[in-house]
Amino acid sequence: MDKKNILLCVTGGIAVYKAAALTSKLSQANFNVKVMMTASAMEFVTPLTFQAMSRNDVYFDTFDEKDSAKIAHIDLADWADLIIVAPATANTIGKLANGIADDMVTTTLLAATAPVWIAPAMNVHMYDHPAVKKNIETLHTFGHRFIEPSEGFLACGYIGKGRLEEPEKIVNLVQDKLTKPSKQPLQNKKVLITAGPTREHVDPIRFFTNHSSGKMGYAIAAKALELGAEVTLVSGPVTIPAPAGVNVIQIETAEEMKIAVMQHYREMDIIIKSAAVADYRPAVHHSEKIKKKDGAMVMEFERTADILKTLGQEKEHQILVGFAAETQDVEYYAMKKLQDKNADIIVANNVKQEGAGFSGDTNIVTIYHRDGSKKELPLLSKEKVAEALLLEVDKLIKQKVQGQDLL
Ligand code: CTP
Repeated sequence: MDKKNILLCVTGGIAVYKAAALTSKLSQANFNVKVMMTASAMEFVTPLTFQAMSRNDVYFDTFDEKDSAKIAHIDLADWADLIIVAPATANTIGKLANGIADDMVTTTLLAATAPVWIAPAMNVHMYDHPAVKKNIETLHTFGHRFIEPSEGFLACGYIGKGRLEEPEKIVNLVQDKLTKPSKQPLQNKKVLITAGPTREHVDPIRFFTNHSSGKMGYAIAAKALELGAEVTLVSGPVTIPAPAGVNVIQIETAEEMKIAVMQHYREMDIIIKSAAVADYRPAVHHSEKIKKKDGAMVMEFERTADILKTLGQEKEHQILVGFAAETQDVEYYAMKKLQDKNADIIVANNVKQEGAGFSGDTNIVTIYHRDGSKKELPLLSKEKVAEALLLEVDKLIKQKVQGQDLL
């Protein structure tokens, strides 16, 4: 197989040293690597290190044209099969989100048509800043993919989210993307998955939630990524880490989940709603703590919006998958939800069955289709359920394409 070309854009943060390791590992994994650096990146490590690791010239000056027959930043943008920005600083993320091109990295990225992966690394509070969050959201809408920073000890002394993902993990993702196309039926597909519980607040201290662990949705996200998809995960509060390479949008309430999903659904090919969304929320959200009183307490609840149903009403080309956690008459309710919510697939389980509960590592599901057909799966790990479901979705997409071809 031809060697694939990776342009690694290194911007200035302490994690630049990890980018040197990444360059070395990508070269060892048989990729052609060319490195481009910003001025701040060169404050941490010299271009010579990257030159030695990549065995290629290192680029940092837009006006230093090494070959008069070419314009370097355009040529490099065209050369790349994949562009990785690692580490990506808040500053570069901000510039990319706003179309600013004031150095070689940002200028080249404006000219790029190859997929762009961005691996941020910064202080935990910088990463949480609304400006950075907004810029990341904007870059998602440009189709750029994020390799989320991991949690741990940060160079600034804080412990939290902001560490550049480990080079080995980034190389694995690159290999999945560039060297295993035959095993990737969902390549070029955009998948949105919702996962975990929602929290519906009563006052600043209390909320209503459910037992969802997010494990099913996170397993689907990991498998979809492995099958080549670009994955966006809209997640309620859970304690498990998101798979590296997934674009994560954290939400708490059903309303926040609805806003995030409706913002992104148009650009998606597949939407899988595995989240356990609250059907009701307290009618009043008290801004101060509710103090106890003698006697019983009565609280009024109001309905939340049914996100799956809204998607079913508005969907265009998307394949829509819903979940149904039931305790009786599973098939009846699954088929009813398929109809009521205009979904293409409902994945149903009886949560009373041993091995099919909320927080375990296994599930026993049946996959129901609109045409009345169903696929009953035995007790399986959530990873295997995720794989079976995604292969059913792929089958459905292929059937739709064939159907269109026949018209
Ligand atoms: N769902 C949703 N928005 C809600 C509630 C649920 O999108 N406000 C989605 C879930 O993500 C899941 C499916 O709808 O994919 C579950 O269907 P639903 O009919 O809401 O099931 P329950 O919440 O269990 O409600 P019930 O069985 O009482 O109808």
